[in-house]
Parts: sequence; structure tokens; C-alpha cells
Amino acid sequence: MTGIRARIIGTGAYLPKKSVSNDELAKTVDTSDEWVRQRTGIESRHIAGEGETTSFMATEAARQALKNAGIDGSDIDVIVLATTTPDQTFPATAVTVQDNIGMGDHGFAFDVQAVCSGFVYALSVANNFVTTGQVKRALVIGADHFTSILDWEDRTTCVLFGDGAAAVVLEGHAGSERGIVSTHLHSEGRHRDLLYVDGGPSTTGTTGHVRMNGQEVFRHAVTRMSEAVKEALDANGLTAADVDWLVPHQANRRIIESTAKKLKMPLEKVVLTVGKHGNTSAASIPLALHEAVQDGRIRENDLLLLEAMGGGLTWGSALVRW
Ligand code: ACO
Repeated sequence: MTGIRARIIGTGAYLPKKSVSNDELAKTVDTSDEWVRQRTGIESRHIAGEGETTSFMATEAARQALKNAGIDGSDIDVIVLATTTPDQTFPATAVTVQDNIGMGDHGFAFDVQAVCSGFVYALSVANNFVTTGQVKRALVIGADHFTSILDWEDRTTCVLFGDGAAAVVLEGHAGSERGIVSTHLHSEGRHRDLLYVDGGPSTTGTTGHVRMNGQEVFRHAVTRMSEAVKEALDANGLTAADVDWLVPHQANRRIIESTAKKLKMPLEKVVLTVGKHGNTSAASIPLALHEAVQDGRIRENDLLLLEAMGGGLTWGSALVRW
């Protein structure tokens, strides 16, 4: 152990200009504001327009995170970008961001694919680079253009998702209490058929659309996210009472409430943003984090627990001392 901790020194976010309410969506999809609100807590979602590609949104979020950290793109040694909806099949969207933020040929950049758990996975990977001393600063981004893989004829899925991006800057500090305390990752490939996209380069040669067994995903989500939280607490000899803020993946208000209830955590300690932007996949946790940092809810030395579950199935958590 080098005794280095990766501290989050800046956050940033980008949501597409166009916001679409449930009522507006109900004009083209056989649904209603009441149904979506009751079952999911979602009120509206942002839908990317012309030019608002995954790399564009990621770059905007990254620039804001760099600004808030008080550093330049050239100070970053690695970009780990979580996405399921890259600009192109290759190269990685992260290299476009590397170019956009002016990293030049300094360092390296790559994408991570773990769907809605993508940000926790990317954070964990970047944390390992920082804590082993391989890099000083990492940019971790969650960015998804999920509306481009939705089947707008399938009301059971298309009402749930939106587009967006958010980013954090990690910086290594020796002998620090503040920073990422631990991360915990899991996957279970035998459940990959519960939530998937029915296309891809080596199968159909198309991008495909999201397919989901909603009730089964709901069940697994509550179980796995609660487990991931308990695992992080147990690994550090803590209880839910020690946590100041739960920053969950923003898929569905009911999933978040059920998870919090299982953990006996009051909702006042949970950052909830799903109402305004729906499920933005890899962007969801850093969007929530950014909002709670910006509005002053999250303060220095607060203990944060991040948790997610997504297609794969993948799930995980991260404990962070702010
Ligand atoms: N608008 C109106 N009616 C709808 C809609 C809609 N958008 N979608 C489904 N319905 C109807 C169904 O057709 C069904 O009608 P029927 O009873 O006449 O057959 C009825 O509503 C109930 O459908 P269910 O599927 O039983 O509804 P359920 O209560 O399970 O809610 C939901 C569905 C919201 C998808 C829920 O299962 C869920 O939240 N699952 C988790 C999915 C999720 O969040 N996935 C995101 C990715 S994974 C992750 O991020 C954790």
C-alpha cells in the first residue's frame, strides 16, 4: 500500500437542452403522466438534440469538472469514460474527450462498459490507477445517449430513460483520510437476458434496442444494491447510521425507496434526482453527486455511499469520504 487516497476535487454535469415531460411524451407514446410518476417517480427526461452526442455531453461535463477543480485538461493523466452508447463502435469516446479537453498525447483514455453500473466501475478502475501511484489525476466520466437505443414503440422501456453526462476529477493525496475509501464490484452473466440490447456488431450488425424484464430487474436491483451497500459498510466496520449521503443510481424512485428502507436509511439522507432526468445510465450517479455538491448538501468530510445496478447484471458500490 502506498497510502494514497483518490480525492474528488471537482464535479461537472451536462444535460441536453431539450426536456420532455411525461405529458409531452404521452402525445406520441401510449402512456400517461400518472402511470410514469406513480411507478417510477420520473416527471421528465432530457433528450439529446442535433450535435449533443455522447462525446459532446461528456466533454461539457468534463470541462466543468476541470474548472471546478481549478485545473486544465493537460493536468489529467487518464480518462476513464463509462458509456453504453459511444459515438462510434470504435474508437473509444474517451479519446475524443481527450482531444477536446486538450490533453494532447499526454496520458491515456479508454471506455468502460457496465451499463447503469458504469460509473461505479469506472471510478473503481481510476481509483486503482491513482492509489497505486501510476497516475496523479484521473477524469472519470459517465455519459449516455440512451434515447438512441430505445424502442419508442415499447412503452415499458422508453418512458424510463434520458440522456446526460457528468464527470469527476480524482487526485491522489498521500496520507489523506478524504477520498475513495473502498469500491466493490460484481457481475452475474447468467442474468444478462433480463436487460440487454438486441443488436451489436458481431450478431446483427445493427445497434439494436433495449429489451427488459422490468419486474425481474426491479427485484434484482433492490437485492443487489442493498447487498452492495452492506458490503461496503462491513468492509469498513461501519453501519448505515455512519453514512451522511446515499447517492444511488437514479433508475426509479420506488427502487431507491425500497433499497433505503431495507437499509433502514431515512430518505432525507438519499440524493434523489430521477424525477428530473429519468434513468441516464452511467451518468446517473455523477449527475446526482454534482447536484448535491453544488447545492451545498454534501460537505467536507461527509461519508458518501454510491451504489448501482445495471444490465449484465452488474452492480457495485463505492464509499467516499468527501
Ligand atoms: N404507460 C402505461 N401503462 C404501462 C406502461 C406505460 N409506460 N408500461 C407498462 N404499462 C402497463 C402494462 O402494459 C401493464 O398493463 P396490463 O396490466 O393491462 O397488462 C401494466 O402497466 C403493469 O405493467 P407491469 O410491467 O406489471 O408494471 P410494473 O408495476 O412492474 O412497473 C416498471 C413497470 C416501472 C418497468 C417496473 O417493473 C420497474 O421499474 N422495473 C425496473 C426497471 C428499471 O428501472 N430498469 C432500468 C435499468 S436497470 C437499473 O437501472 C437498475
